[in-house]
Amino acid sequence: MTDMPAVLRNAVRRAAQIAPRPAPPATTQDESVPQAPPSLASQRAPTRHLMQDRTSLLADGVLYTDFFKFVDAQLRPKAYFEVGTHLGRSVKAFSCPAVCVDPHFMLDQDVIGTRAETHFYQTPSDDFFKQNDLRGIFKSGPDICFLDGMHRSEYLLRDFMNTERLCHRRSLIFMHDCFPFNARMAMRTHEAGDEAEGHWAGAWTGDVWKVVPLLQAHRPDLKILLLDCAPTGLVVVSNLNPESTVLSERYSGVVDDLRAMDLEKHTIRKLWDDVPVISSHSLMQHPEDLTLFLDIN
Ligand SMILES: C[S@@+](CC[C@H](N)C(=O)[O-])C[C@H]1O[C@@H](n2cnc3c(N)ncnc32)[C@H](O)[C@@H]1O
Repeated sequence: MTDMPAVLRNAVRRAAQIAPRPAPPATTQDESVPQAPPSLASQRAPTRHLMQDRTSLLADGVLYTDFFKFVDAQLRPKAYFEVGTHLGRSVKAFSCPAVCVDPHFMLDQDVIGTRAETHFYQTPSDDFFKQNDLRGIFKSGPDICFLDGMHRSEYLLRDFMNTERLCHRRSLIFMHDCFPFNARMAMRTHEAGDEAEGHWAGAWTGDVWKVVPLLQAHRPDLKILLLDCAPTGLVVVSNLNPESTVLSERYSGVVDDLRAMDLEKHTIRKLWDDVPVISSHSLMQHPEDLTLFLDIN
């Protein structure tokens, strides 16, 4: 947290002190009078709009694909790389040349649009990294990466390690689904929830949440932030070091550590408390503040 603007540090501390409580009613008197959130860049004292009070441990910000459209429009990346494409919702948010990896594409609409180049590799990511050279397509490395493939922690860890070495120092790596909102969806095997979970009964994040505390422990040089993007958060990692061998040297011990982690013991509360949380709504309302946190240049 030491490299963050003071305005955010204070807000993060305050957010961490707020105990979880039930979601408020749909409308309250306060909410009936919309107020503009403060600009982060203004360095004014943060209000609750900047770092929204955590009324529940839910990522209830902007839908992650809408946030990606905003990132595309604001940062204008020149190269996008993703692991896990499925229907193509995430790649569709970006307009620059893209490389997509998935062993089983299920594209159901035009995800190419006006993009000059889109490369599809229908293969598991481990094989992609062994058999292909992303730098052959993106000579300077990808500007934006999105890791959303197999939802098991050791897969995400490898995807992170393999992606980081292909990045440049200002690349951003986004990781999906690291903030599950119950233990059922965070199991290593996908099991549907009961009707009490309503719309979310089919949701599965797997145990990729473990990669966040693991990176914090082994790679304190990385900058790790959480955007509160719905439905299960968007972690963004910057200050990458493509030369780092720390994770590959420690790989087998680190995988043992991953196996030993348990969300019931670790708690969802701790996940939220240990990562600086940024309001996606506030950032989108103040695009001038985006580069305080995310920049590729
Ligand atoms: C949650 S979906 C991706 C959703 C997409 N990123 C989006 O936002 O619309 C996960 C995808 O990961 C793919 N996947 C599973 N195992 C994988 C692996 N080993 N390497 C790469 N992708 C994998 C699945 O086929 C599935 O399409």
